[in-house]
Amino acid sequence: MDFSLSEEHLMIQKSARDFAQNELKPGVIERDKTMSYPTDQVQTMKDLGFMGMMVDTQYEGSGMDTLSYVIALEELSKIDNSCSVIMSVNNSLVLWGLEKYGNEEQKQKYVTKLANGEMIGAFCLSEPEAGSDATSQSTTADPRGEHYILNGTKNWITNGHTADVYLVIAQTDHMQGHRGISVFIVESKWEGVTQGEKEDKLGIRSSDTSSVMFQDVKVPKDNRIGEDGFGFTFAMKTLDGGRIGIAAQALGIAAGAYELALEYSKQRVAFGKPINRHQAVGFKLADMATEIEAARMMVYRAAWMKDQGMPYATAAAMAKLYASEMAMKHTVEAVQVHGGYGFVREYHVERLMRDAKITQIYEGTSEIQKLVISRSVTKGRPWLQTQSN
Ligand code: CAA
Repeated sequence: MDFSLSEEHLMIQKSARDFAQNELKPGVIERDKTMSYPTDQVQTMKDLGFMGMMVDTQYEGSGMDTLSYVIALEELSKIDNSCSVIMSVNNSLVLWGLEKYGNEEQKQKYVTKLANGEMIGAFCLSEPEAGSDATSQSTTADPRGEHYILNGTKNWITNGHTADVYLVIAQTDHMQGHRGISVFIVESKWEGVTQGEKEDKLGIRSSDTSSVMFQDVKVPKDNRIGEDGFGFTFAMKTLDGGRIGIAAQALGIAAGAYELALEYSKQRVAFGKPINRHQAVGFKLADMATEIEAARMMVYRAAWMKDQGMPYATAAAMAKLYASEMAMKHTVEAVQVHGGYGFVREYHVERLMRDAKITQIYEGTSEIQKLVISRSVTKGRPWLQTQSN
């Protein structure tokens, strides 16, 4: 067992760290305050090849592994989780499934542009009445000749306004329940596609989240991914990988807050010595360092399992559950270490604390991860296997 990172992984880590320090950090407080989309920063992410990291080079991606992707996400998330969620959705929720299950024509038309940065993508699963209960889709796609007619509303869509392409999950046959759900590639400029207001959120405030409405949108049959009825399985498999990305974000947020708390605790003097020499603070830092390391092992392992072609759904759910709970707990502690300074924007930790919260919610709440893990333990479905069962 070798825990060291390769030269290539270290180079990606350095390039992501430099980008985060030099280009994300300078305006991050202002973007958060004003909810401004990070246009220039996303452009640099495209230039660095971060928007299609795992896509094969034949489709204009960077051809890297999942471990490279989580290492990059971790570094970005230490500074600006709004940028990392934009990157994560494009890579995990949009490109992974399109490249794996799309036909050659769909790949040439969409994967290449989404990977090289000409286009941005979004994943449309959640609805006002279908969040955790993803089988209860009310968006419909009715077959009509060579098209489907798409109607419905999707909620909480990351990249809602900026996306050129949406992957939309919709019911094509109500009688079949989740086996009557299909998935379509829908372009944002098509007639009948509109977006709601940008959401005013607690965290990840400069990312673009909105609802997306589809009214009598004509979707060519050629834009269905896979067969009719494949949509729910497609969404579940996509989320398995997506959860590794969210776990990496949570890890980065916690590590960023820890680095700030550690630095502050060295400089801040109280009762005659730096506060990290007081056991109350020293023990907090010890707990943070230990649990961040544990989360890192889980996140890297889930990514490695995916790269090895092993079943990774349970490992991904475990990594997301642990890393997001840990991030919430330790960003609160990092604010505490900073005392009053932690409560003001200028010191960055309060933003990381606010950003941590969403990692316990999106791509399946902590409760959903426990459901997936408990089914793995009790039912042993093949895709839910872990290395230890
Ligand atoms: N891989 C392959 N197939 C799977 C699967 C997986 N991981 N999980 C389930 N399935 C299949 C099952 O085999 C079953 O099919 P059959 O009946 O043909 O055997 C079917 O899917 C239904 O499975 P379940 O009976 O387990 O379904 P359920 O309704 O009881 O529970 C769930 C499923 C795990 C709760 C699921 O609904 C879920 O993950 N919900 C959370 C959804 C979610 O994460 N939403 C977030 C939206 S995306 C987002 O946040 C976007 C963003 O912008 C960041």
